[in-house]
Amino acid sequence: MAPRKLLVFWVVFMSLFFFFTDPPFASAENVNFDFPCFNFRNLTFLGDSHIRNGVVGLTRELTVPSSSAGTVIYNNPIKFFDPEANITASFSTRFSFSITNVNPTSYGDGMSFFLSPNNRILGSPGGYLGLVNSSQLTKNKFVAIEFDTRLDLHFKDPNDNHVGLDIESLTSIKTADPILQDVEFKSGNSITAWIDYKNDQERLKVYLSYSSFKPGKPALSVDIDLSEYLKEVMYVGFSASTEGSTEVHLIENWSFHTFGFVPTRPRLQPHNVSDTDVVVSPRIPVSGSTNKHHKRLGLGLGIAGPAFFCVALVVFGYVSVSKWMNMRRQKSFKAEVIAGPREFGYKELKSATGGFHSSRIIGHGAFGTVYKAFFVSSGTISAVKRSKHSHEGKTEFLSELSIIAGLRHKNLVQLQGWSVEKGELLLVYDFMPNGSLEKVLYQESGQGTLLDWYHRLNVAVGLASVLTYLHQECEQQVIHRDIKTGNVLLDGNFNARLGDFGLAKLMDHDKSPVSTLTAGTMGYLAPEYLQYGKATEKTDVFSCGVVILEVACGRRPIEREPGSLKMVNLVDWVWGLHSEGRIIEAADKRLNGEFKVEEMRKLLLVGLSCANPDSAERPTMRRVLQILSNEAELLGVPRVKPSLSFSSGLPLSIDDIVSDCEECSSPTSSMCEIIIN
Ligand SMILES: *[C@@H]1O[C@H](CO)[C@@H](O)[C@H](O)[C@H]1NC(C)=O
Ligand SMILES: *[C@@H]1O[C@H](CO)[C@@H](O)[C@H](O)[C@H]1NC(C)=O
Ligand SMILES: *[C@@H]1O[C@H](CO)[C@@H](O)[C@H](O)[C@H]1NC(C)=O
Ligand SMILES: *[C@@H]1O[C@H](CO)[C@@H](O)[C@H](O)[C@H]1NC(C)=O
Ligand SMILES: *[C@@H]1O[C@H](CO)[C@@H](O)[C@H](O)[C@H]1NC(C)=O
Repeated sequence: MAPRKLLVFWVVFMSLFFFFTDPPFASAENVNFDFPCFNFRNLTFLGDSHIRNGVVGLTRELTVPSSSAGTVIYNNPIKFFDPEANITASFSTRFSFSITNVNPTSYGDGMSFFLSPNNRILGSPGGYLGLVNSSQLTKNKFVAIEFDTRLDLHFKDPNDNHVGLDIESLTSIKTADPILQDVEFKSGNSITAWIDYKNDQERLKVYLSYSSFKPGKPALSVDIDLSEYLKEVMYVGFSASTEGSTEVHLIENWSFHTFGFVPTRPRLQPHNVSDTDVVVSPRIPVSGSTNKHHKRLGLGLGIAGPAFFCVALVVFGYVSVSKWMNMRRQKSFKAEVIAGPREFGYKELKSATGGFHSSRIIGHGAFGTVYKAFFVSSGTISAVKRSKHSHEGKTEFLSELSIIAGLRHKNLVQLQGWSVEKGELLLVYDFMPNGSLEKVLYQESGQGTLLDWYHRLNVAVGLASVLTYLHQECEQQVIHRDIKTGNVLLDGNFNARLGDFGLAKLMDHDKSPVSTLTAGTMGYLAPEYLQYGKATEKTDVFSCGVVILEVACGRRPIEREPGSLKMVNLVDWVWGLHSEGRIIEAADKRLNGEFKVEEMRKLLLVGLSCANPDSAERPTMRRVLQILSNEAELLGVPRVKPSLSFSSGLPLSIDDIVSDCEECSSPTSSMCEIIIN
């Protein structure tokens, strides 16, 4: 068995090497770069392009009709043609992108990946995709792959969902419909594209998939010799546009490489090749193993050339068939195509939740009861929230809803849609298989798995990231007002997803926060919020600090001391330990010390600085995010918890409320909701 396995391995290895690797010439001129996520380094941003949470946005994210064009370009010029050797490079790129319509009835124009000799030109919005200037149509030279989401008869577009090759004109040389690969650009889903150009075959191929596996069949294949257009030095990048419409174009990651250049220094003379030469020759080593590959390939071909070839063919066939079967499998999992939040029919939601059956209840939020819904037609699961109140200010509510629906962040529970029939308001969200952080953090021991340190840190970073987005990066600032472990949900990979915007308020960045009905959850409310009833970003920071401490300590914000009736406030408790210089003892005992002490200390101190009673001393969420991702220094936390005195007479002190809470709360739940006018 073992020798056979070895043989199979060898054959597979050799054939994969033979068929799938780039030409084994690696010269200094071949370029290779990879952005698993983005920062401002190495990129030029033109027009409305921007960066947010490591993701590049190409157009403006506005809910009102707007026109926008943006371009992002890799800073370094890339050599595509070697005049000395008279060779044009081949290239290959992979990137993940998504195109989303904030407003379901209005579509933007789409986006492109391009190569251009110029890195300073931003084209016009609209059908020009930010690639060409509408008043100088022929000025900008480019080779582009367009991902077009608008039917533009002017440029002979076939439909409003097509991929095409454009050379120096927006009228495509060839287009294809990605729906044949089950891909719809406007779905809002993350799509991965692979673009390969092989100069020797004079063929360009574009592959598209919702998954990160490259499909076997290209969505677009064009036989074309690009050597005429690939200049000695070009820039690569992306562009996108909208016109009087809304469409969000995001690029999540990107890798690119060129290959095919032969090194300028002659390496191997045909008449001078022998095995020893290959091993000994001191050429700039690509890597030691490549040398061995050469040797083995040479030996393999020499000893058993024809036999090897046959076996390789068989293996190649096998690989192709399994790839094809894989593709079929992926097709049968056809993802439901959702174009942003949409209106659902009441009947559809009723039947998906078994008539709002009590067995389908998965939780209760500020907004109402949450049901698990199965959509038989698409085979998907969602969470449906059903309001228990009638909403008098329905129009106001819906306008708020539409803005919340426009929020997009990987750490938000995404709203899929709503229904307002039969006097009921229903909201449909992504279903979060791992429930709430509260449930996972405080489950009975022995039930389910304990959240390990890595995942806890990741939850804290996710929460900081989404709050940075809500507070500082949205068009309109959003104050969540009810941040607590019960509203932090966990997706399939235990990433934090903030949910339940039942109490959220939107405010313009420059308006002072309005005093309104105050609501929130005991134990998470900042002192000044209790006092003045004003929600600000700083009150959210406080609540977030409490959640961070809970994650680190595995204790509820207000918990009865074991064996006594005394209620302990988590912030006070941790601050007490900090005063005594033994903050690390606050760490969740259930972790059994399986964490990095420095990371634990940092998380606890960040939690304390957020929960500072003095709102002016609390950091912004952006700062918290930077600290947690090691981009900023930790803030100093005073040894003694600052005490606070309000100027006006206190109707309630925090301790009063805590003791009120003590009386009204059941022993198992130490939290209660309070409403102050
Ligand atoms: C960005 O530029 C720096 C300095 O030129 C370089 O070291 C780094 O590899 C570049 N990163 C990418 C992803 O190209
Ligand atoms: C460069 O190569 C092309 C074919 O690849 C050939 O047509 C052309 O004549 C060559 N030019 C020079 C200057 O050798
Ligand atoms: C197009 O070119 C003209 C003339 O150079 C310039 O004034 C205009 O701003 C350009 N338009 C865009 C969208 O770049
Ligand atoms: C790129 O991003 C997409 C979407 O976030 C992800 O599915 C994919 O795995 C990423 N690819 C790489 C190589 O990081
Ligand atoms: C062939 O290889 C020998 C050493 O093995 C070297 O001295 C000689 O210069 C080589 N000839 C050429 C044409 O590169």
